[in-house]
Amino acid sequence: MFENELSNALAVEGLSEQDILGALEVPKEAKNGDICLPCFKFARTLRLAPQIIADRLTPHAKALDFVEKVETVGGYLNVFFKRTRLAADILRAAQCETVGESDEGKGKTICIDYSSVNIAKPFHIGHLSTTVIGGALYRIFKHLGYNVVGINHLGDWGTQFGKLIVATRKWSSLEEVEKNDEYFLNSLYVRYHKEAAEHPEMDDDARAWFKRIEDGDKDATAYFDAFKKVTMEAVGKIYDRLKIHFDSYAGESFYNDKMQPCLDILRDKGLLVESDGAWVVDLDKYDMPPCLLLKADGATLYATRDLAAAYYRKQTYDFCKCLYVVAYQQNLHFKQLFQVLKLMDFAGADDMEHIAFGMVSMEDGAMSTRNGRVIWLKEVLDKAVDKAAEIISEKNPNIQNKMQVAESVGVGAVVFSALWNNRIKDIVFSYDKVLNFDGETAPYVQYTYARCASALRKGGKFDPEKADFESIASDEAYDVIKSVLAFPESVRQAAKLREPCVVTRHIVDLAGKFNRFYIGHRIVVDDEGTRNARLMLTAAVKHTIGTGLALLGIDAPEEM
Ligand code: ARG
Repeated sequence: MFENELSNALAVEGLSEQDILGALEVPKEAKNGDICLPCFKFARTLRLAPQIIADRLTPHAKALDFVEKVETVGGYLNVFFKRTRLAADILRAAQCETVGESDEGKGKTICIDYSSVNIAKPFHIGHLSTTVIGGALYRIFKHLGYNVVGINHLGDWGTQFGKLIVATRKWSSLEEVEKNDEYFLNSLYVRYHKEAAEHPEMDDDARAWFKRIEDGDKDATAYFDAFKKVTMEAVGKIYDRLKIHFDSYAGESFYNDKMQPCLDILRDKGLLVESDGAWVVDLDKYDMPPCLLLKADGATLYATRDLAAAYYRKQTYDFCKCLYVVAYQQNLHFKQLFQVLKLMDFAGADDMEHIAFGMVSMEDGAMSTRNGRVIWLKEVLDKAVDKAAEIISEKNPNIQNKMQVAESVGVGAVVFSALWNNRIKDIVFSYDKVLNFDGETAPYVQYTYARCASALRKGGKFDPEKADFESIASDEAYDVIKSVLAFPESVRQAAKLREPCVVTRHIVDLAGKFNRFYIGHRIVVDDEGTRNARLMLTAAVKHTIGTGLALLGIDAPEEM
């Protein structure tokens, strides 16, 4: 907040404003001030001991009207701000509903490939991370002014479609599939794998049917379209509940007719080499296995489609970054893909990023759609909502829109569980953990938000001009104020690290700090100055938590 003015005042003794601004730090411990300047950074250029530099800068800092006191400790210049001044400035800035918006991304486009579900498979808990991490990054970058393109690179191509056709024809019909849901489709898929283990000839049939899809055969395409429709309808409902939005659903099949130019570039550059009849790019030099792009029968692969997609995205969106939010299981795929793009001199080659995250397993081992060993996301969401409804009935039986609030709380708890840790951490799914609403959870943050809303309803209109900031100068209040102040920086960090959990952790921390303040201080009191200041603080917290929850894709009910 006061960094610029401070830097300007300290630009003496041969130091520039830029030098100071770049060196300022927020001390880890409050006893070391609100902001500090490590003077040893300038010792060499100024040929002075850090302590002497700190001493010489002290009077310049002290002269500022927002500075309360200055201490020099171990070569650090520790600056304490006047709490009332800081409170007034920060809380004024946080009186609008969205906090920390900026235009630093103006004019830049970021593509984010996330969720990218596979057609004909219901949404399981393993898809939660890519969907909500991608969704959060989407909103975070938007908040910072970027033009963001959310892309669902649908897995809508491959031999599994041939298998499903065989299964449908054997045990069901096109009409029945169209009438049923994604679980029905999945049961056909599971049955296929069971029976094909004993009747391998089924796989030949499946390949033949897939070939017919590739050739544009009418019957085959009708099945394909039905599978896609059933899946997309089901997935769409989940996206609505998770508040997930895409600007493009161009998936693997979209690139059917767009791979040739890439293969031509590779051939022209002499990068495509034959290997047992197949065509690959040799990556031996880069310590990677070859990247397979054309099978011996001429079929293209996942990687071939991703090459075409990269070119298409660069051409269509002219991105400055193209992010792929995909589990680390695909580390090698993306390393190969990015390396091949570099070898092709692809214009966006340096801007491709794999945003990897950990795997989800069940308590008794890995998941597998083929064997039907999975936890469906819809079930998890429904269970969480049921539990939320139970708790709400108990605690607040007269609440309006009970089911709507239960939906917000239940779904919020599930989303939160996937956005709490660093991306890369593996998760062992446990209902107990996801349905635990105590401690560091979405319901806790939502509850704090509702608590703020309730205090603001009770307090009525308040006037910042009449606020007495001395009444929020206690340590507890100051902790809250500093957390509000630091929120925009957390949003920037979350974007920079591609880690939504920075925002998650920030709002949990802020909720804890506000609750400590709330326990020790009444908000709606008679004294006008105090009431106005505390309501102003409460509104700032509400807006900050509300912004954080919105960025994560979690609802914030006004009452709970
Ligand atoms: N559908 C793929 C899967 O479920 C993920 C696709 C990720 N995006 C991409 N452009 N490769 O494994």
